[in-house]
Amino acid sequence: MNLSLASEWKKKELDGLLIPLYEEELVFNGLEIPFEQLLETKRFEGKVGSQYILTKMVDGIFVNIVLLGLGKRGDIGYRKLLHALGDGFRTLKKQKVKKGALLFDGGNVATNDTYVKAAVEATIMSDYLFDDFKSKEKEEKESEELTFAIVVEEPDRYTHVFEEAEILATANLVARDLVNQPANVINSVTLAQRVEELGEENGFEVEIKELEEIQALQMEAFLSVARASDIEPRLIVMRYMGDPDSEEILGYVGKGLTYDAGGLSIKATASMVTMKDDMGGSAAVIGAMCAIAEAKLIRNVVAVVAACENMISGSSYRPGDIIGSMGGKSIYIGNTDAEGRLTLIDAMHYIVTEEKVTKVLDIATLTGAALHCTGSAASVAIGTDDQFFDDVNEAFTLSGEQIWRMPIFDEYKELIKHEEADLTNTAGKPGTITAGLFIGEFTGNLPWVHIDIAGTIWSTKEEGILSKGGTGVAVRPLYYLAKA
Ligand code: BES
Ligand code: ZN
Ligand code: ZN
Repeated sequence: MNLSLASEWKKKELDGLLIPLYEEELVFNGLEIPFEQLLETKRFEGKVGSQYILTKMVDGIFVNIVLLGLGKRGDIGYRKLLHALGDGFRTLKKQKVKKGALLFDGGNVATNDTYVKAAVEATIMSDYLFDDFKSKEKEEKESEELTFAIVVEEPDRYTHVFEEAEILATANLVARDLVNQPANVINSVTLAQRVEELGEENGFEVEIKELEEIQALQMEAFLSVARASDIEPRLIVMRYMGDPDSEEILGYVGKGLTYDAGGLSIKATASMVTMKDDMGGSAAVIGAMCAIAEAKLIRNVVAVVAACENMISGSSYRPGDIIGSMGGKSIYIGNTDAEGRLTLIDAMHYIVTEEKVTKVLDIATLTGAALHCTGSAASVAIGTDDQFFDDVNEAFTLSGEQIWRMPIFDEYKELIKHEEADLTNTAGKPGTITAGLFIGEFTGNLPWVHIDIAGTIWSTKEEGILSKGGTGVAVRPLYYLAKA
């Protein structure tokens, strides 16, 4: 898609128009639309998310027009706005429009920064489709080049907003692509290579630590998980030092299980089949690093991913094993499918002690239980620092994504202890909280937020800005958190 800002829509040979309207006096200057009739027959009233398609001759060309309801003025938040615009854009595309435009001014909606940002993000994100392996569709896609303009009265005023939104949406798609690539394509080694390319393209430093270096760091927990795979693990370190004068470094740790078969505590096929998405946390931090570096934020950010696969072989770690960790604590293995937290604690200990971050956030497709907390509507969080959590929450809201904080009661802290070892990797219910608390043992008491995205990493529907598959969840929030 060729997306741009423009000031004019008339005499441009457009064949598709998307017109957002509030649910109030319906008008549009410059086009004769029978609003009274639409209202009387209740075909279109401007209710939030509603659409009405009509066709008209404009300047001698047959034009498909999609009227898009935004509901009552002031009611629509950023999340719903993205959703409505994404759906509206998709409807236009389904009408086989080749040269379309979104018209904010002219009706009852006046352009502002938020609208332009939402329009750019929604069009780029809802245009995404993972079809890399479909030979026929690929040919078709390459031949149909869609041109789309966001028409506003003074385009120059919105150049910066446009650029930032484009960076954010593109970074979101980087993450979706990483998640959607199957595990026979994206594994620990190829993921590391891809991150090196992205670092070069976007301007952040990448250091890849291979097996011997991981062994030298004594990452026994990470290595225990990685051991059964024929593919070597990689510790991926990304650094962006945009504020060299500051001592502060924001740390991001992303779960990077390029595949999770469960290990000896093997998963059932139905749960295993989508486990290429178990590197969704790493996709989020990688995407965020792309956006942070591309936008040249004045902030220091380091991100770490311990990438490997959880497989089965003669060298698998076993239920009942007691293993060590870089941080020195011993861990009883109750279930080899609770592998994410093992890779994360070594990455966490590394980022705190070796990269000297001053605040740290980890993000992971950690527990199926997260789906029982908030489903796919929100990511689940715990944290020890109210201010830091509030900043994270604000960053999610700005992006139109949702996060919900769970409590840390003293009772839960007892559950991660074990009689034969310092900790157990299977602490029991509430599974999402105890999994997070396990990681919290390795944060060196820094301000810390843990985010479980097991429920939000994957979309089963094409809806709003989402395509089927990876959602690119948290990429934009992690950018805003670094920007704040
Ligand atoms: N990768 C899974 C969690 C997951 C489940 C992600 C569904 C996305 C969708 C994780 O490694 C896992 O298997 N967790 C176990 C932990 C249990 C054995 C303590 C779980 O949630 O069942
Ligand atoms: Zn698992
Ligand atoms: Zn996992």
